[in-house]
Amino acid sequence: MKNLIIRKPDDWHLHLREGLVLKNIIKYTTEYFGRAIVMPNTNEPVTTIERAVSYKKEILDAIALGTNFDPLMTIYLTDETNKEELKRGYKDKVFFAGKLYPANATTNSRHGVKEIKNIYKLFEIMEDIGMPLLIHGEVTDSNVDIFDREEVFIDRELNQIINRFPRLKVVLEHITTRYAVEFVMEKKIHATITPHHLHINRNAMFFGGLNSDFYCLPVAKREFNRLSLIKAATSGIENFFLGTDSAPHMREWKAFCGCAGIFNAPVALSSYLKVFQEENSLDKFEAFASLNGPKFYNLPPNQEKINLVYESFKVDDFVEISDSFKVVGKIKKFHAGEFLNWRIQNDSHSS
Ligand code: DOR
Ligand code: ZN
Repeated sequence: MKNLIIRKPDDWHLHLREGLVLKNIIKYTTEYFGRAIVMPNTNEPVTTIERAVSYKKEILDAIALGTNFDPLMTIYLTDETNKEELKRGYKDKVFFAGKLYPANATTNSRHGVKEIKNIYKLFEIMEDIGMPLLIHGEVTDSNVDIFDREEVFIDRELNQIINRFPRLKVVLEHITTRYAVEFVMEKKIHATITPHHLHINRNAMFFGGLNSDFYCLPVAKREFNRLSLIKAATSGIENFFLGTDSAPHMREWKAFCGCAGIFNAPVALSSYLKVFQEENSLDKFEAFASLNGPKFYNLPPNQEKINLVYESFKVDDFVEISDSFKVVGKIKKFHAGEFLNWRIQNDSHSS
């Protein structure tokens, strides 16, 4: 197959950051995706209507003129989230969904929820008004092995949430295990799958020494889990859809603190397509990337089409972050130095 025409995809899980990083990286997402759910774990977290409105404005201001892109905002749920504000923000279409981070589960999650039962009152409202709940599904207890945290979260927390709120629209984000795949299918909930969890297993973090380039949360797991994720994503089954979890961190910080996050936005579609092609499932890609998400979120699929051409290109290592003309930092790309085979026609950014 030499080309593939599909409806423009959406990214149902994305970190855009703020300030200079946002300004420099947003073009990668807007070129390939019609909409994206924007995560609220910014330095100043998105916990109120006012903050969501100002962050959305910052995002729209960073987008090139004439670009058609819809950032869908989330509210960062905390023990202090105000019920009325949650309701009003959803009804007024400021918030598209609510994001649950267990406290300290990942980057900028210190404001997250300390005791999930304490926000059941929010879930009740969300279930009532049809507001989706997006879950970072990991427990944070230091006595639970980091490779087991997703499974333990499912058993300890998610199962109860689903039983207690059967009509709540739940997305288990960036799943990493066969256990999660099976749970999603059995309970008929939904899940996003990232490109990196389709490509790497936990060995990647130790490739050539301790390697923070492949450190993300939830961490990549054993190989059998990766194979299960590949099966789920390439099945076309509507419970699974695209969410890159693209999470840029400046090189200096990543090297210094080993922060969790993989920046895949510049190569996300090519990365997914490599897997779909290897699985002989290119015919299922449109469902995963462009149809299953809108169906779950009750949105029309994008009208616009994109033409993906089979053409090899080498991924360069970094995206530069510049302030006008001065380069102030760089961010490592996922697949740096590798060859990928699919690129969007007339694309200016994929290498
Ligand atoms: O790897 C990750 N990076 N996982 C997350 O949950 C957060 C993200 C980030 O914000 O950097
Ligand atoms: Zn994320």
